[in-house]
Amino acid sequence: MSEEKKLLTRREFLVNAGGVAAGVALASAGLGLFVPKAEAEASGLPAYPWLEYFNKPLDVEKVRQLGKDYYSQGVGCAEGAFKALLDVLGEPFNQVPGELLYFGRGGGVGWATLCGAVNGAAAVVSLVYGRNPAGTAIINELFGWYSETALPLWDEAKSVAGNPLCHSSISNWVKASGKKSSERGPRCAQLTGDVAAQAALYMNQTLAGTFVPAYKMSAESESCLSCHKDDTIGKMECKPCHEDAHKR
Ligand code: HEC
Ligand code: HEC
Repeated sequence: MSEEKKLLTRREFLVNAGGVAAGVALASAGLGLFVPKAEAEASGLPAYPWLEYFNKPLDVEKVRQLGKDYYSQGVGCAEGAFKALLDVLGEPFNQVPGELLYFGRGGGVGWATLCGAVNGAAAVVSLVYGRNPAGTAIINELFGWYSETALPLWDEAKSVAGNPLCHSSISNWVKASGKKSSERGPRCAQLTGDVAAQAALYMNQTLAGTFVPAYKMSAESESCLSCHKDDTIGKMECKPCHEDAHKR
């Protein structure tokens, strides 16, 4: 029996047993996830997958505004982008707590890895499409778009990150704007909206059957990988981190 089946069976057992006592006993044994209370609260959600509930185009500008607003309220870029998209998608997506993506702020609790806005928006795409290849295509395009596009779209101080890393995004913006990284708030608020809106746009295009992925890795990086595919993996531009490779 698969691991998933086993869990399900244990949960069904709990529901059938129905007794709060049984739930409490197991909860105290470290199985708190499966107490009947949580089961009852979650039962309002339809069975997953939820792709069929994304059946009308999203209001892209509303997503942009909400992303900016949520960021400005202090939830961070990842939760901001995540919640903006969930809100506009409506039921049942808006039943998922935004806090799921709170960790993503500052590229992962300030580690400046994957940009949280990208992370949060991609999480929604994953939730909508599940393991359907359409989701991967959208997320891949979003990562590529983010890497190549001067962001935020409507700001005077725009910068190109070159990859989907918070670190590159912030550092290049600091150079372009002459500001300090601690002053990034208004800029990251706009960027959060822009990234969430771009994901909404790709989802709308996919719904309409007009989505054509355009991002392509540079020929140079492809040539690097043609020799280095056993040493590493990735789709980011190699040069910004390996400027000096093969120069010695
Ligand atoms: C024709 C094959 C080939 C191509 C193309 C190639 N490499 Fe290499 N690279 C090698 C080999 C072989 C080594 C090992 C050389 C050594 O150990 O000194 C190496 C070593 C490296 C190293 C480790 C040593 C160092 O110099 O820092 C890095 C990093 C690296 N390559 C990055 C790149 C990047 C980035 C590109 C594309 C711009 C690239 N390589 C293109 C064959 C290639
Ligand atoms: C965000 C920065 C970053 C990017 C982008 C990146 N690398 Fe690296 N790479 C590293 C770091 C850090 C290491 C480990 C330390 C080192 O060797 O510099 C590494 C190691 C390597 C090594 C092993 C070097 C050795 O000494 O054996 C190769 C080969 C390599 N990278 C190739 C690539 C290629 C090809 C790309 C583009 C597809 C790429 N890297 C993109 C940061 C990066």
